[in-house]
Amino acid sequence: MGQQVNVGVVGCGAISAQYFQTIDRLPHVRLVAVADLDLDRAREAVRPYAGVDVVSVAELMADPRVDVVLNLTVPAAHAEIALQAIAAGKDVYCEKPLAATVADAGRMLGAADAAGVRVGCAPDTVLGTGTQTARKAIDDGLIGRPIAATATMMTPGHERWHPNPDFYYVPGGGPLLDMGPYYITSLVTLLGPVTTVIGAASRTRAKRTIGSGPRRGEEIPVTVDTHVTGVLVHESGVLTTLVMSFDGVATKSPNIEVHGEKGSLVVPDPNRFDGSVLVSGMGEEGWRALPEAAGYVEAGRGVGLADFASTPAGETARTDGSLAFHVLDVMESLLASAHSGAAVTITSTCARPRPVDHMR
Ligand SMILES: NC(=O)c1ccc[n+]([C@@H]2O[C@H](COP(=O)([O-])OP(=O)(O)OC[C@H]3O[C@@H](n4cnc5c(N)ncnc54)[C@H](O)[C@@H]3O)[C@@H](O)[C@H]2O)c1
Repeated sequence: MGQQVNVGVVGCGAISAQYFQTIDRLPHVRLVAVADLDLDRAREAVRPYAGVDVVSVAELMADPRVDVVLNLTVPAAHAEIALQAIAAGKDVYCEKPLAATVADAGRMLGAADAAGVRVGCAPDTVLGTGTQTARKAIDDGLIGRPIAATATMMTPGHERWHPNPDFYYVPGGGPLLDMGPYYITSLVTLLGPVTTVIGAASRTRAKRTIGSGPRRGEEIPVTVDTHVTGVLVHESGVLTTLVMSFDGVATKSPNIEVHGEKGSLVVPDPNRFDGSVLVSGMGEEGWRALPEAAGYVEAGRGVGLADFASTPAGETARTDGSLAFHVLDVMESLLASAHSGAAVTITSTCARPRPVDHMR
């Protein structure tokens, strides 16, 4: 993947360990420094790795060795940290969603353009073999012209397992902004950008109870919709029906299905890199699994950062901020539609990210 890239991480919470493990095994990516509001947490997070400096956010931004700031803070802090990185002349790669609001995300991308630096964003799971094999099947014409898709995420809520789940229940969180990026990024990868959305949403309880860790039993406020449903009209004419919920107990619906004129496809969980793609062609009995045919093999969170960092100048990264901005715009518009009762036209767009060959 070319030249070595030095990474500085801001935010050493629950997800950071997965990134540190991936970065550790990527030959061209080196973790040089980490920062967090809680320096003890940062120290603990990088204890298994030698030679990583634990510093303040300001020191990390000023560190001339840092090429890319990996922003693993909570969604409400994504824009603030990204803007600091951009002001320091560094590329930034953010966890999802790109920011808590489209307005904040727009400021990030505007500042990055003006400074001549790049913004990338998770999820990178869609670069794995699951979504990429499904994409290849669609592009190869296996199910004919795509007509419709469904996307379903149903869980009783992350407060059952996350020790600090507050951010899931404030703006920037909720089932749509938290899990929607996986599903909608996968749908845009498979079917292209979205032009119109129609939404409906509900909020079942004003409080949630933390189910694990030192704060177990503590109640936290809910200020976002916890069941969001709607229709996405893709530019291609495909209609996606979407359900994202922190209120349902369980589901037997596949994460994503795509229906074409000649067949139907089950797309694996977009929150994972791998998984089996199933197809049922017109006239066939049942479903058959497709052989893995595309995508990063045995990937982990962080491959998108490496892919971003190795994208040649002048080429759009697969995890480019324009894709994450469009996905955030779709989500915010879906909530706006749910509250107004009217369809919302999506003003942003993006290119379908380039496919990933089958590679390690
Ligand atoms: N937990 C998961 O399973 C998971 C999975 C995929 C993606 N994500 C995404 O990763 C991001 C982080 O999630 P998490 O679960 O690790 O959250 P977390 O709350 O466990 O960790 C966030 C960390 O960021 C630090 N932080 C917050 N604001 C900061 C600031 N202004 N300056 C410096 N540090 C700051 C906090 O102190 C904390 O240590 C979110 O965007 C989330 O959507 C989380």
